[in-house]
Amino acid sequence: MSFQLSNKRILLGISGGIAAYKTADWTRALRQDGAVVTVMMTESAQRFITPLTLAALSGNKVHTSMFAIADDERLPHIALGRDCDLILLAPATANTIARLAHGLTDDLVSAVVLAAQAKVLICPAMNGVMYRHPATTHNIARLKEYGYTVIPPACGELACGDQGPGRLAEWETVRQEIIAAITPQDLQGKKIMVSAGPTWEALDPVCLLTNRASGKMGYALAAAARRRGAEVIMVSGPSSITPPFGVKVVSVVSAREMHAAIRQWATAMDVIIMAAAVSDYRPSRYEPHKIKKGVTDTSLPLTANPDILRELGEQKKDTRCAPLLVGFAAESLDHLEEGRRKLTDKKLDLIAINDIKAEDAGFAGDNNRVTLLDCHGTVEEMPLLSKEEVAHRILNAILRQL
Ligand SMILES: Cc1cc2nc3c(=O)[nH]c(=O)nc-3n(C[C@H](O)[C@H](O)[C@H](O)COP(=O)(O)O)c2cc1C
Repeated sequence: MSFQLSNKRILLGISGGIAAYKTADWTRALRQDGAVVTVMMTESAQRFITPLTLAALSGNKVHTSMFAIADDERLPHIALGRDCDLILLAPATANTIARLAHGLTDDLVSAVVLAAQAKVLICPAMNGVMYRHPATTHNIARLKEYGYTVIPPACGELACGDQGPGRLAEWETVRQEIIAAITPQDLQGKKIMVSAGPTWEALDPVCLLTNRASGKMGYALAAAARRRGAEVIMVSGPSSITPPFGVKVVSVVSAREMHAAIRQWATAMDVIIMAAAVSDYRPSRYEPHKIKKGVTDTSLPLTANPDILRELGEQKKDTRCAPLLVGFAAESLDHLEEGRRKLTDKKLDLIAINDIKAEDAGFAGDNNRVTLLDCHGTVEEMPLLSKEEVAHRILNAILRQL
């Protein structure tokens, strides 16, 4: 379930391409995300997948004709486009794209799109030669001029056996674009840097000091900010999570690398969110060869790593157009007091405090329980929420301060 897609009305228009079968899975995925899906199909599309399948999967009547109006029904080509939050055309054939580019309305799908005021996402899918043909290229350029979002097809092996562009875009890419299209673009024009994940501090070629951070919170923040229209750079320590669509990722390993990367971009940013769990210390000495087992009792000298947040806070007072600074504090004792101290001490605008003792939230999980404190003394205690929802609430608080 995605709280952003929950109860959103998606009108899925299917045209007659070989990839039409994939829309059965897409319909299920949208419903699992809580969306209400209504399907309309061209005549050719019904040769590839049946309206019965899509009616069963969407739980709604499937619309196939402009002229099939029951007595009590409104005109489908007008009503369908009016009653939805977004139209998704997938797969969009070369033929349907040409119809739309020229304003033709001789079938239900093209008539609905021409009569609709909702946002339109178009996913072309066809043979690579058809896709690269100047006619298709011009038609797609026109659709973009009309304000429709065209999600480019993926490259790879096509149904006809050719290699190249033309495969229907991957579902996760399309899902992200749907969410971006229905999410208010209230961070448009803002540049946001997010740090994420743990850092690794090498002791020798094999062993390292690190922590239990997974990167999930930082990645959720980067994805949410990008969906709300921000330009996002994410400086990420080692993490196995797939980077969010549309976010520029700078991969680093150690705290010192993270420090250097953040310094490089910091002055150009409107907001910096330090969600990474940066190691406070590193081994004072790096052993070029693996440390051998032998002594039973030994000690490990440590050197403090740069305090990136403190440095950014210090620089703020010298700069007039300083970025808004958001810190994270993972505390196991007196978490509110500690958070308050860090907020003032490091000259932050906002701090998100995690009580790492809470059993249902924390490092590797999908949920988090966060308290937000801002520099004006506002306290927002959040219930247990998905990290995605926590990310949006933090961005709301940032927006209030911007
Ligand atoms: C087996 C088969 C696969 C096809 N796959 C595609 C395709 O992937 N993309 C495309 O643009 N046309 C494809 N076509 C051609 C379209 O079905 C044809 O242009 C049709 O008129 C499209 O109608 P529509 O846009 O109204 O759905 C395919 C045709 C056949 C017979």
